[in-house]
Amino acid sequence: MKKRKNIITVAIDSPAAAGAGTQAKLICKHYNLYYLDTGKIYRYIGKLKLNNKRKFSYLYVKNKIEKLKISYLKNKMLLNNEVATAASEIAKDKKIRNIVHKFQQKCAYQPPKRYRGSVLDGRDIITIQVRDAMFKFFITASLKVRAKRRFVEYKELNKKITYNEVLKSLKKRDKSDKERKHGPLKKTKDSILINTTKLSKKACFKKIKAIIDKKLLINGNL
Ligand code: C5P
Repeated sequence: MKKRKNIITVAIDSPAAAGAGTQAKLICKHYNLYYLDTGKIYRYIGKLKLNNKRKFSYLYVKNKIEKLKISYLKNKMLLNNEVATAASEIAKDKKIRNIVHKFQQKCAYQPPKRYRGSVLDGRDIITIQVRDAMFKFFITASLKVRAKRRFVEYKELNKKITYNEVLKSLKKRDKSDKERKHGPLKKTKDSILINTTKLSKKACFKKIKAIIDKKLLINGNL
């Protein structure tokens, strides 16, 4: 993969609903960076499987990912809890992860020219996808707070789901995402821990911005 030179790369890993997406979007907006929510790709593949059990094969997924447009990842259908569960299941598969890898590399290292760099968030971004990222954040929050936030999001989208179902589902996904063999979620020593349990979105971004600004200033990039 040919890498665009002198770009700003931000890698974020986090368990589900910890606020990583919110922070990633704020970082992108502030520093004019390209955003890829990598979980949405797994959700897209999970949805493909739910919709086309018979057709579903590695080749089918490969072809779909080669043609995938970022705009499709904004589809609200991908926000269902059953899609999230299907995503977590197919995400265990090494062959599927390899197909997604190429797409992610392009977004991380060759973002469209109008952007100064990229932000990717997911489970294996720091550990595998963008190991040489300029900034590495591990964003987390307590399970209860994450379940509450996700429950509120579902309610806003008029999804029929209870708080307990959300809690149970997140717990199951956490376990699977952390314990799987390929691309498990884990915090690396060189990543900065941001715990959003008691922090507002604004306070959290303030912390992240201070870290980014400091390094950019030293590098003469600000
Ligand atoms: O982040 P989100 O909750 O949308 O991700 C859905 C699922 O996709 C996760 O539970 C995880 O299993 C998978 N995923 C992954 N690697 C990533 C991003 C997401 O395995 N980089």
